[in-house]
Amino acid sequence: MSEVKAIYLKDYKKSDFGIDSVELVFDLFEEYALVTNVMKIKKLNEEQNDLVLNAVDLELVELWINDLKLQDSRYLYKDEKLTIFNVPSVFSIKVVNKIYPQNNTELEGLYKSGDIFCTQNEPEGFRSITPYLDRPDVMSVFTTTVIADKEKYPVLLSNGNKTQCHEVFDNKEETRHGVTWHDPHPKPSYLFALVAGNLGSINDSYTTASGNPIELNIYCDLGNESKCYHAMKSLKEAMLWDEETYGREYDLDIYNIVAVDSFNMGAMENKGLNIFNSAYVLADEDSATDANFMGIQSVIAHEYFHNWTGNRITCRDWFQLTLKEGLTVFRDQSFSADLNSKEVQRIEDVKALRERQFVEDASPTAHPIQPKSYISMNNFYTATVYEKGAEVIRMMNTLLGKEKYRKATDLYFDSFDGQAVTTDDFVWAMSEASKINLDAFKSWYHQSGTPKLLVKTSFIDGVYSLELTQKVPNAVNGEKQGAYFYPLKMALINKKGEEVVSETLIISKKSEVFTFRGLTDEPLLSINRDFSAPIIVEEEKNDFAFLMKHDKNSFVRYEATQNFAIETIEAIMKGEDINDEFVEAYGYLLDIEGDLSYKALLLEFPSVSTLMQRQEKIDFEIIYSAKEKFAKYLAIHYKDRLLSLYNSYHEPKSKELDSLSMGKRSLKNRILKILSADDTQELQKLTQKQYEESVTMTDRVVALDILENSTIEYKTTAFKDFYDKYKNETLVMNKYFSILSASHRKGTLQRVIKLQDDEVYDEKVPNLVRSVIGVFARNYKYFHEKDGSGYKFVAQKIIDIDKINPQMASGLAGAFKIYNKMNEENKIMMKKELECVLSTQSLSKNSFEIIDKILKKD
Ligand code: ARG
Ligand code: ZN
Repeated sequence: MSEVKAIYLKDYKKSDFGIDSVELVFDLFEEYALVTNVMKIKKLNEEQNDLVLNAVDLELVELWINDLKLQDSRYLYKDEKLTIFNVPSVFSIKVVNKIYPQNNTELEGLYKSGDIFCTQNEPEGFRSITPYLDRPDVMSVFTTTVIADKEKYPVLLSNGNKTQCHEVFDNKEETRHGVTWHDPHPKPSYLFALVAGNLGSINDSYTTASGNPIELNIYCDLGNESKCYHAMKSLKEAMLWDEETYGREYDLDIYNIVAVDSFNMGAMENKGLNIFNSAYVLADEDSATDANFMGIQSVIAHEYFHNWTGNRITCRDWFQLTLKEGLTVFRDQSFSADLNSKEVQRIEDVKALRERQFVEDASPTAHPIQPKSYISMNNFYTATVYEKGAEVIRMMNTLLGKEKYRKATDLYFDSFDGQAVTTDDFVWAMSEASKINLDAFKSWYHQSGTPKLLVKTSFIDGVYSLELTQKVPNAVNGEKQGAYFYPLKMALINKKGEEVVSETLIISKKSEVFTFRGLTDEPLLSINRDFSAPIIVEEEKNDFAFLMKHDKNSFVRYEATQNFAIETIEAIMKGEDINDEFVEAYGYLLDIEGDLSYKALLLEFPSVSTLMQRQEKIDFEIIYSAKEKFAKYLAIHYKDRLLSLYNSYHEPKSKELDSLSMGKRSLKNRILKILSADDTQELQKLTQKQYEESVTMTDRVVALDILENSTIEYKTTAFKDFYDKYKNETLVMNKYFSILSASHRKGTLQRVIKLQDDEVYDEKVPNLVRSVIGVFARNYKYFHEKDGSGYKFVAQKIIDIDKINPQMASGLAGAFKIYNKMNEENKIMMKKELECVLSTQSLSKNSFEIIDKILKKD
């Protein structure tokens, strides 16, 4: 176990030193790299004599202060810190050190993805490249020269603008070359980036609102250039949107994006040089699904938006991460909503929040969007910091309204441009510009757990009363937490479906009653419209069937459908028959008109994750069998209507990407999936036909997934066909692996174990680990197998992968987060495996932190 020391927000102290400029030279070789780092440093606290730089695995070659080469006694390297004693007030330091990017499997700092040198420095990767004040509130101007073999690495990139190209002649035959980049914007080290490789690219340009021409480049492996056009289109859409919506323009002459295959996360917003997981750049009609295209649009935009919310204004310390991430996610969600369907986007966002963030918030690793402590900061790039963080920004947006919100973001940019600030600074701008007091709102930053709202209603003599009571969960450590302040959109609807009241209530007390007068008949309640607050609403009673049919708020209509389905499935879990009233209302939805993607969402059944979150003690077998019964009943009952809907929307030759074509695909694939609950020959044939005639990856993977989970023999042929076609396209193979690892068919674990021997599989590539092991760990049916085999397998993988890539390993450990909610039998088995992982020699602090928290909450 490496040193386990928690860092606390309350211990924050300003840096004693500042760095005015940094000049870096990277000499890249096949076996190692030499880094020369010249920093101009000034003392900010005259009391401090020693300079302490962060440095990981430092192999020092030379160390100079001004013109003096330092003797050993002048410095000390210990516990990841390089201390230089007795430094003057203003001085320059030169450090030369040696690193080994080729051996870096953690994918943090400078590493190699295939043949490409690249970096990932957020949050603390830079300290493994060169000694530095590696904290976001130390901002400096970077000049970077990259030198490498000209033939192997013709493309050399870093942040900012290209200022010089040089030829360097070696003693040997090979020719080396170098390129110098200068970034005029002061930035923290986590935004530093470097890329060297033999890359293909596509190029374009954009002229900003004030007339500055920007060169746009997307780099990728040679041969993949044709798959970069959707990303380029998305980038230009994002640039325009940020000008129109937030008044923000780009601020360098060049914007570079590089796609690499080995990347721990989605992407990284390094100044002027974004580095992306290739899954969020590369796409064409044959190899990417509609969801992939949407994902690329949103991640490209997310990283672009960081240029203002993250780079120009950055975080004071890592506890402020949600300052940039919550805000930037809110910005990318708004962008996607504006460019595509608003109603669909909102539901997708809420679905994702509930599936991942609600589960996290109910688990032993729950934390406020602004955590109070961490062991490994890498563990805090969570759904809570990101997605709940975005909901918190959204609530302020709702409270302020469009105009005041824009005034407030303008004030935020004006006040803090070029600074490293806190979430309090952001809330200050919101409050200052709107004159709305947000003090009570701030608890959203400091409390954890999903708040509940209990709803009771009554109707007496024309007066409708809404009695609302907040149920606030305790923090993980048992501490009591206070009531929240938030906007609650609601409406009252009469029997004709008309809205007689439509308001945004401000909830601020533990318990409150709102009354509405002058009503002739008892209305129906439409509550938390648009999901205006990230809470769980518990209604004593409601007429979900009516809301399913008549609510004009697309979110509540979806919500009512989900709620009614959940109620129906839970009754089946208790041994009851399916509720006919639900079946009737569901039938009504089959015939509605309107946005097809939205209709596809309405028809979706509640996920196993949703059902599981409502259980006191989780037992997956009961959930699965009730859900199967429910699904099969509807598939049989509505078979003819479903089939005719399928046929009317299935356009075998269409591969267009406009919203109508995507809507048709989404709806007909939803219907095929619903029908597949009844595994008849007729359905199997239909699925086979869809696979065989498919011209889009969307249709292909939906069919393949259904085939895998059915009894049809043809699946062997289909999988072989797919494999032969795509074995050289890793991104497509990820889909293939995911389908097999998520399978509900008997023997899944054995097949997953075998997949690891596939020549395409590589334990060093995060995307592949996620699609094989990660997907299996979320395959509730086999991960939670009663004989403990699923737990044992995943625990062993955590141990193995922890030695290669601790971030990947702690990600996998997340699958055990529901430990404290499992039934006793499963808990005992989980505990045994987790203890085994925890006792592993030299376990990373990443994995330690997650597993330790899970076990402590027993
Ligand atoms: N800032 C990046 C983004 O949101 C993610 C960086 C993730 N880094 C990490 N160590 N987990 O786009
Ligand atoms: Zn981000």
